[in-house]
Amino acid sequence: MNKIVAIDGPAGSGKGTVTELIAKRCHLVNIDTGATYRAVALAALRNNLTIEDKDAITELSGKIDITFDEAGHVYLDGEDVSSEIRDKEVTKFVSPVSSIVPVRTNMVALQRKMAEGKDVIMEGRDITTVVFPNAQYKFYLDASLEARAKRRFEQNKEKGIDMSYEEVLDNIQKRDYNDMHKEVGSLIRSDDAIYIDTTNMTIDEVVDKMVKIIEGD
Ligand code: DC
Repeated sequence: MNKIVAIDGPAGSGKGTVTELIAKRCHLVNIDTGATYRAVALAALRNNLTIEDKDAITELSGKIDITFDEAGHVYLDGEDVSSEIRDKEVTKFVSPVSSIVPVRTNMVALQRKMAEGKDVIMEGRDITTVVFPNAQYKFYLDASLEARAKRRFEQNKEKGIDMSYEEVLDNIQKRDYNDMHKEVGSLIRSDDAIYIDTTNMTIDEVVDKMVKIIEGD
């Protein structure tokens, strides 16, 4: 059976960074499920759709081709959109887009397909609960709101994304609310996921702890 490591947690909990590092150390394919929703949001924006156009966004989500390469680049209909999907506009639009139930159905099916026959590590909001509830390894990463906003602010600076700390904090708060109040696929801490509070931990400490668990048996 293929190995599945499932990780959930709120924005800025460190799951994106640790997932990348664990993927390399444990030779797992990294499937960034947030990127699939971001690609749908980008496609919708390019088609001048608003959040009122739920049917059109749903249709679009079933039509577009979303793929990843081995280096983790994200392609929308063959075009590399890895940096564009992190733009401010996409980041604001993606949470409501990911609340559209049939869009989630399409993305969950796509994510499961991407994992077929591979040893994978997947991070998102509903991986441990909906996409792969029977994964061998399930983690929930968390951190205080301030720590998460600070991390995201620093990450943005490194990537040249121009957002004030207040703007980042506000964005994360709104996303937390949306992520936790979805009709389907809400961020839920499942009882059988290993809970790690990363507020006062370095990335390396988090990675070491998780790798020990993954490779411990
Ligand atoms: O992890 P991220 O910031 O790239 O996620 C982008 C958005 O997609 C975020 O608002 C939550 C949503 N998302 C989701 O609903 N389900 C997932 N499995 C992953 C992300």
